[in-house]
Amino acid sequence: MKTKVCIIGGGPAGLMMSQILDAKGIENVILERQSIHYVNQRIRAGVLEAGTIEMLNDYGLGERMAKEGHLHDGVAIAWQGYDQFLIDTKKHTGKQMMAYGQTAITEDLYEKRQAAGAHIVEEAVNVQPHDVKTGSPYVTYEKDGGTHRIDCDFVAGCDGFHGVCRQTIPSDVIKTFERVYPFGWLGIMSQTPPLEEVMYARHERGFALASQRSPMLSRYYVQVPNSDTVEDWSDDRFWGELKARFPTHIAEQIVTGPSIEKSIAPLRSFVAEPMRYGSMFLVGDAAHIVPPTGAKGLNLAFSDVFYLTRALEQHYHKNDNSYIESYSEMALRRVWGSVRLSWWLTRLLHLFPNETPFEKRIRENEFDRLFRSQIAQKNLADEYVGLPFEG
Ligand code: APR
Ligand code: PHB
Repeated sequence: MKTKVCIIGGGPAGLMMSQILDAKGIENVILERQSIHYVNQRIRAGVLEAGTIEMLNDYGLGERMAKEGHLHDGVAIAWQGYDQFLIDTKKHTGKQMMAYGQTAITEDLYEKRQAAGAHIVEEAVNVQPHDVKTGSPYVTYEKDGGTHRIDCDFVAGCDGFHGVCRQTIPSDVIKTFERVYPFGWLGIMSQTPPLEEVMYARHERGFALASQRSPMLSRYYVQVPNSDTVEDWSDDRFWGELKARFPTHIAEQIVTGPSIEKSIAPLRSFVAEPMRYGSMFLVGDAAHIVPPTGAKGLNLAFSDVFYLTRALEQHYHKNDNSYIESYSEMALRRVWGSVRLSWWLTRLLHLFPNETPFEKRIRENEFDRLFRSQIAQKNLADEYVGLPFEG
């Protein structure tokens, strides 16, 4: 079989790649290791930057988001001992954010892709890119007892952090950067009405977050030590701890109910450079992971998709490779911007077990500066809502 772009991984990055390439008339195939049903059940973050909302609208994915998503003027911070305040993206940038779950985006994307007759191979085993250093790469996989081969012009490695694409880049070419944090986020989903705002809380007991998926679906998180397991956390213990970390008048507004999902995610920052190796490109979690503070993961994946689909469009329709040549450099500039922001917010808002008294005062002063300074708030709002794409 032959195609132009072979997309490895059918998560949000791979699906959005396929959706946009199709709109530009560029033939592609998606190879996904799991079943589509499995991929659609994964629960991940749910706050969208203005540019992500625009991309979803531009490519026909705005309908359900308009009905179920919730537009916000920014994100609130409740810091113990201070009045609650808003990182007001509307006021400082004129742009709003959207609370809309990644699970719903993935479902919407699969629905659109399948309706358009996209070529998607689910439960593809042993997917392996070959000859990616050359101009004629190919990808092999196993399915239904047979081995298959797809010849292509380019491979888009959209296969997440544990995927195969990054691993095929030789160790003397790839450089990785990593920070692992000494805590995780315990998250629950409950069928209860959420708070009006998406709100981060900083308390001496630790970080907490109130978020939402729809008018009757709430998402909440508390910071927990890496050694904790889900079994350590009954619903009652979770709700008690969550409320203890928010100011009393906000805790009183939190509507509790049975959890319908509960899981712990460790926090990590990770970047692999470069994001291109010959005819293969890394896109999304395959190249970078950010801690969820700042909700940048999906937005960053879509930013890579924007740069790569533009590069491929220029290649096929204008015979111009300049965006292909600059893909890694341009994508990485935005990646490092979000890596820095999510690291900074993580450091600001969490309890670090080994923080010295000096570091504590610096962090408190950093928040105080943010609280009092319109300039500091504007700067954060600008980065939180998402920086513009480079021309
Ligand atoms: N072959 C085929 N598919 C694979 C392989 C493989 N060897 N390895 C992984 N995959 C698939 C996974 O099953 C998954 O469906 O690739 C997909 C990668 O999807 P994600 O992990 O969701 O990564 P990405 O699409 O880059 O999504 C962006 O934004 O909010 C963040 O981390 C969050 O997943 C989210 C990310
Ligand atoms: C979420 O809704 O899951 C969410 C919101 C904000 C974040 C992270 C996750 O920073």
